Amino acid sequence: MAYTRKDVSTLTAGEKRRFVKALLELKRRGEYDEFVRTHIEYYVADGDGGLRTAHMAPSFLPWHRQFLLQLEDALRRIDDSVSVPYWDWTRDRTAKSAPWTRDLLGGTGRAGDRRVMDGPFAYGEGNWTLKEGVTDGAYLTRDLGRVREPLELPTRSDVEWALKDTAYDVSPWDSTVTRGFRNKLEGWGTGRGAPSWRNHNRVHRWVGGAMVGGASVNDPVFWMHHAYIDLLWSRWQQRHREHRYQPAKPPAPGTAQYRRVVARHEPLPPWDLTPDQLEDHARIYRYG
Ligand code: CU
Ligand code: CU
Repeated sequence: MAYTRKDVSTLTAGEKRRFVKALLELKRRGEYDEFVRTHIEYYVADGDGGLRTAHMAPSFLPWHRQFLLQLEDALRRIDDSVSVPYWDWTRDRTAKSAPWTRDLLGGTGRAGDRRVMDGPFAYGEGNWTLKEGVTDGAYLTRDLGRVREPLELPTRSDVEWALKDTAYDVSPWDSTVTRGFRNKLEGWGTGRGAPSWRNHNRVHRWVGGAMVGGASVNDPVFWMHHAYIDLLWSRWQQRHREHRYQPAKPPAPGTAQYRRVVARHEPLPPWDLTPDQLEDHARIYRYG
């Protein structure tokens, strides 16, 4: 039986409590930090050379789908009533709305060091010490909305701009492509600074603090954000049924993207699964 991933703004008090409890238990066991490490390890950019799987590549969507499934599996081994809720940032758009409440993720960081001071993931609670990829300190940081250089969350029309593109992705399959659903959703735009951060990337920047960069998994909002990104991929699939993950075939030897992106039927490291196998999640989970 498929389980349901719910809108985070609709969770009951009990659902929030169980979700938080399972996350804290995973952290206590040391398993959570393995997820942070994996994400840091796969944070490979266009300019780095080698195979790109998680970001700036067609497999951005299936890579994070499988990554979320692994986290969700680990949570469900602790409490099988739990699933990862999604944060629809086109609707819950302020630093006071879901999921930034004291009974779930807590709110923004304080002035100065941006340390999160309330909720179950506040450093002072003693249950959420950052261990991987930390530069400032072992505490979780946020700067919701970027107080000094304010930024708006993406809107419905930003999302629609991505969803209406009929191509999944196009050559050269990287952060520079201006067409295709994948990069319009992943959000590498042209130019510099805030105007160039679209959809997925803009949300990481809006949260700020730990959510910027390879160690973004340190903030549990990572999973809710990526659950919504995953939901949008499902919506795109439903809307464009005749279109699928691209590239269907690996780029040819001698071309710039040879061995740098994963084609539809190639394994997607670190897993022995292909994008083709990750396109349909309906037997595992659904969005409610
Ligand atoms: Cu990522
Ligand atoms: Cu992300």
